[in-house]
Amino acid sequence: MKNKATIVLDINNQKKEYSYDILDSTRGPKSIDMRTFYKESGLFTYDVGFTSTASCSSSITYIDGEKGELRYRGYEIEKLVSNHSYLEVCYLLLNEKLPSKEQLKNFDIELRHRSFLHEGLKNIFSAFPDNAHPMATLSAGVTSLASFYFDHINIKDDLGYKEMAYRLIAKIPTVAAFSFRHSIGIPFIEPDINLSFTENFLFMLRAYPHHNLKVTKDGQEKIDPVEIKALDTIFSLHADHEQNASTTVVRTVASTGAHPYVAISAGINALWGRAHGGANESVIAQLQMIGSVDNVDKYIKKAKDPNDEFRLMGFGHRVYKNFDPRAKVLKKLQDELKQTIHLDSHLLDIATKIETIALNDEYFIKRNLYPNIDFYSGIILTALRIPKQMFTAIFVIGRTVGWITQYIEFKKDKQSKIARPRQIYKGK
Ligand code: CMC
Repeated sequence: MKNKATIVLDINNQKKEYSYDILDSTRGPKSIDMRTFYKESGLFTYDVGFTSTASCSSSITYIDGEKGELRYRGYEIEKLVSNHSYLEVCYLLLNEKLPSKEQLKNFDIELRHRSFLHEGLKNIFSAFPDNAHPMATLSAGVTSLASFYFDHINIKDDLGYKEMAYRLIAKIPTVAAFSFRHSIGIPFIEPDINLSFTENFLFMLRAYPHHNLKVTKDGQEKIDPVEIKALDTIFSLHADHEQNASTTVVRTVASTGAHPYVAISAGINALWGRAHGGANESVIAQLQMIGSVDNVDKYIKKAKDPNDEFRLMGFGHRVYKNFDPRAKVLKKLQDELKQTIHLDSHLLDIATKIETIALNDEYFIKRNLYPNIDFYSGIILTALRIPKQMFTAIFVIGRTVGWITQYIEFKKDKQSKIARPRQIYKGK
């Protein structure tokens, strides 16, 4: 028998009882099934920003915000990223289990073969202005994929979902690399099928035309494996994050029956905002603006001033009321990288001072404002010589698999409905 919750509403001395099912979860809070509430009471529930609303059931990712815990398909994020590659994480999210060696090899080959772009898609870039932000061209490029693979509007079976997933995971890094190269006016570098997923992306960003040479800062011919591992970890940490703003957008677009590729493109657009994935670019821009450790106090004061819109970028999270576990992994990675590659010590000093002050300041403690993933990723990405206008695109590459997995889960869920919130009308 299902557990029930009784809600008693006392409005103008008129009491009425309503009974609703309590929905179980395997972890985290249970939910009250309020779907018939409006029909029965004539009232809406008001929940701006969905702070108390579960919009779906999901078995992909679990976050315990109080403990600072994140799991993909039941696996703790810290263990997952220290023992498995980004492609293994992708396989896990899509297939609910980690791959065998053979399965991983086949998955990898399938992705390598799909990493190229249709010639027509490449021509689209020439229509964009010079200096176009890579996030704008990336989003447009992914939308354009829907025109090249229009038949995916009607995916009917697992094979179709698999093809869609492989195609997007493989092609989005290429669109992202081309977006960057277009933004600085240099020729595109085609994917190198001999390279791993992450190395190939760095290759497409860095290489020179007509050269097989993978140039590094010290002129070596191979991209430093330390850099590949660091970026691979960053991709894995971004792979999914349950019902955040961009994922909710992907599910919302999915709910209308639109083409799956435009649902992913909508996710990219939602991610771009500085309150969400765009925060990584803003963190570095803000550290550069602060400019010196001597100015940190002034900006902390601004962040605490209720009359000042200034916020410390890379701090706070809707769900984490403790250290973001992804940030913990990156902080450790940052410390390790200090020994092997050049980290910008000037920016690092400013960031360290902000972190130390904020973690001990009553304003931040009272509001549970901890550094989030974006606070640390920017310094590492800068050390990987990735320009800051590409930071959110890096987030996109990592998150693509999460959006796709959530899209497929939504489509297969018999309870799914078109997303259609209500409003409190205050107009004439
Ligand atoms: N700096 C200063 N004060 C802050 C900050 C911040 N970064 N974040 C929240 N606050 C204050 C806010 O002013 C409010 O104070 P009060 O209660 O006095 O009005 C209180 O903390 C609660 O803030 P909120 O805006 O109601 O919290 P939210 O859950 O709606 O917003 C957030 C979460 C992430 C949008 C917000 O913390 C923020 O804008 N942070 C900076 C941007 C950022 O780093 N975003 C990346 C998030 S992690 C990557 C991802 O998954 O997207």
